[in-house]
Amino acid sequence: LSLHDALPIYFKNPRNVGEIPDADGVGTVGNPVCGDLMTIYIKVKDNRLTDIKFKTFGCGSAIATSSMITELAKGKTLEEALKITRANVADSLGGLPPVKMHCSNLAADALHAAIEDYNKKQKCKEGKKE
Ligand code: FES
Repeated sequence: LSLHDALPIYFKNPRNVGEIPDADGVGTVGNPVCGDLMTIYIKVKDNRLTDIKFKTFGCGSAIATSSMITELAKGKTLEEALKITRANVADSLGGLPPVKMHCSNLAADALHAAIEDYNKKQKCKEGKKE
C-alpha cells in the first residue's frame, strides 16, 4: 500500500477509533510541534494486546497513522508492540512527507506510553498482593 493509497483509506475510514472505558493501560502524548493530543487505550490478556483504541485531536496524518498502528499492534505481545517504532509506522504507510513525520510519531509514542502505564499498574497490583 503506498502513502497515496493508504492515507485516504485510513483517514476516511479510520479503524479502532474510540475509548476503552475499562482499559488496562492508557497513554497520552502531546505533539510539541502543533500541540495536538493523542490517547491510546489498551486491553491486555496473557501479555498480548487484545484490544486497542485511540482518540486524537490531531490532523489527518495523525489519524491515519494511529489507525495503522492500532492494526499493527493488535494481537501482538507487549514486547513486540514496544518494538513498533515511529519509523515502522511511516514505512507501513509508504513513507510520510518530512513535515508530517511529527504527526506519525504521536501514535508510536502514545502506544509505548500506554504499555508503560499497563506495566506500572501491574507492578502496583503485585505490590498489593505481597
Ligand atoms: Fe498536529 Fe499532525 S499537525 S498531529
